[in-house]
Amino acid sequence: MKVRDSGMPDEEMWSGFFDPDKVLAIFGLDCGIQDLVEFGCGYGTFTLAAAGIASGTVHALDIEPEMVDVVRQKCREADIVNVQAAVRDFVSEGTGLADNSMDAALLFNILHHEEPVALMKEAFRVLKSNGMLAVIHWNYDPTTPRGPAMEIRPRPEQCINWGREAGFRFNERNRYDLPPYHYGLLFRKPFT
Ligand SMILES: C[S@@+](CC[C@H](N)C(=O)[O-])C[C@H]1O[C@@H](n2cnc3c(N)ncnc32)[C@H](O)[C@@H]1O
Repeated sequence: MKVRDSGMPDEEMWSGFFDPDKVLAIFGLDCGIQDLVEFGCGYGTFTLAAAGIASGTVHALDIEPEMVDVVRQKCREADIVNVQAAVRDFVSEGTGLADNSMDAALLFNILHHEEPVALMKEAFRVLKSNGMLAVIHWNYDPTTPRGPAMEIRPRPEQCINWGREAGFRFNERNRYDLPPYHYGLLFRKPFT
């Protein structure tokens, strides 16, 4: 089931909202990451940047075959071989990844889902001990040029509560402003 209000504008507009390398570096995702999963890769805005960081595989999942084709094409053109882009509905099927197998998970612009805790629990399941869950979302501000309807747009505090409910640790130090229109939150799976 496609996450509500998760359609994309044209790519030129979308990519203008982000500096992907900078966002990943702010999260500390710029070194020491082997395998990573991205829930809803869209145009691959963050996928290709993540591929440059991960020493293992970036699992880029999207329900839309067109988005997966775009990501595969970009990887071919850039000679990137460590991205596994797959058409997958992670809401009804999960990620299909093994328990405790990923160093990092990205939930970017997707937590306005009806069941955010379920998504975060799936990220928790696949992450290794002390693995990182990075979340970004549109500021809770009706003047942003895009973003889900305000009635379903999560505030940072809601995401933090959902993350804790899913089992993650969150430290206030790991709350980030990602101008011009986003905030970021970094969660950790507790050591086991
Ligand atoms: C708003 S876009 C964000 C894309 C990317 N995370 C980014 O921030 O650039 C959300 C993406 O999630 C995908 N998506 C929505 N529901 C999904 C589902 N149930 N399973 C897999 N992908 C889904 C959409 O097709 C879309 O490409």
